[in-house]
Amino acid sequence: MDRDAAGGTGSGLWGGRFGQGMAPEMIPLNRSLGVDGRLWKEDLEGSRAWARALQSAGVLQDDELTEILAGLDRVESRLAEGIPTDAPDEDIHTLVERMLGEEIGELAGKLHTGRSRNDQVATDLRLWGMKAAARLDDHLNEVVGSLIELAERGVEVILPGYTHLQQAQPVRAAHWALSHAWPLLRDRERVRSAGRAAGVLPLGSGALAGCPFPVDREILRRELGFRALSENSMDAVSDRDWSVELVFAGALIGIHVSRLGEDLVLFSSREFGLLQIGEGFATGSSLMPQKRNPDVAELARAKAGRLQGNLTGLMTLLKGLPTGYNRDLQEEKISLFDTVDTLELTLPALAGAIDDTVFREDAIAEALNPELLATDLADHLVRAGVPFRRSHDIVGRLVREAESRGMPLSELPEEVFREASEAFTEGVESIFDWERSVEARDLPGGTSRLAVQTQIQKARQRVSEAPS
Ligand code: ARG
Repeated sequence: MDRDAAGGTGSGLWGGRFGQGMAPEMIPLNRSLGVDGRLWKEDLEGSRAWARALQSAGVLQDDELTEILAGLDRVESRLAEGIPTDAPDEDIHTLVERMLGEEIGELAGKLHTGRSRNDQVATDLRLWGMKAAARLDDHLNEVVGSLIELAERGVEVILPGYTHLQQAQPVRAAHWALSHAWPLLRDRERVRSAGRAAGVLPLGSGALAGCPFPVDREILRRELGFRALSENSMDAVSDRDWSVELVFAGALIGIHVSRLGEDLVLFSSREFGLLQIGEGFATGSSLMPQKRNPDVAELARAKAGRLQGNLTGLMTLLKGLPTGYNRDLQEEKISLFDTVDTLELTLPALAGAIDDTVFREDAIAEALNPELLATDLADHLVRAGVPFRRSHDIVGRLVREAESRGMPLSELPEEVFREASEAFTEGVESIFDWERSVEARDLPGGTSRLAVQTQIQKARQRVSEAPS
């Protein structure tokens, strides 16, 4: 039996050399249409450009080009309805070619002249990747925009700042919010850079050795919106570096988002009580009537694992591949698509949750412990001429004293301060002032109102910057 006629083998593309069709067990393993079907638009875009290039190269007559382009238009209208679920084709490239054949007959067979699925898939994916990078850039911008607005709501709110998850020093809530914005702004640079890396055109590389027809790759490049031509056809069909870069950027976004998610989970708990996430982004419990769970933040945190998994999978896939195209590369798309899909699902929800987050000022006031100002006390002594190492020790003793008396540091009697150091003669009470503490840190990047407002402005500016 002609196994290809039974459908699904794709061997119509190369059947001439084979006496037998594809084994039934091989067909599902070989098929990638379920994954790469989404590249249909890019495949048509590349095919139109290739058809024009073949005509300019004298391979296609003018009327043949017109017919092929009209046929591709009809294929496009059909695919716009969705890829038929019973399509027997191996992948999107064979599907488009078969449908073109249905539309224009044997002439369709001329389109693949000088082209291989190896340079075709590399081109389609890069076209897709450039657009995906631009979309991720927008999603990141949206989250950063939400964080900036949260920061604006938190300029006058003073929070405990943490190290080792222990109260450390007071900070403006805006400062904390922006500490999550800058990593995402750096991620934007990485995403953009991956998008630029994708902008190198492989078309014209053939299977590995280039194209023997005089197609003008430069025209192809301009027509398809690439910024450069690949320099080596063997490299071009196997280079997936840009994809690794995008998937890496995605993995790092996952890490950043998971840290933000973790802070949201912690800070919205009763124990911390610093903020509340909007109801629309929380869930209740089917059993415990009082529950309000920060699921958006937990799910955002969870995605980090999957995003890192995609990176590990992709890098492992590429390691040790021999020269030129190898079928392993077909699997690359799974990691790439999943990373982009995961982020496109997660980032908008996170942005929405941040928009709906409020600082709980009463609970924050209760959470602030005067020990957060221990460093300020030590700095006070430094201003009176005490070497910092000594003042650190003096204040450490005062903290211990307050602890043993079971009272807040700020409530220790004045004479205890005076006994600890003569430099505490006056003005100790003035140290126990949250506002004074954050205002004292007025260097760029610090917690003063001015420094934080400058930071907000700078972050805003970065958000409004057009992609380079
Ligand atoms: N579906 C294949 C992929 O995604 C297309 C390229 C196939 N090339 C080949 N020589 N079998 O990689």
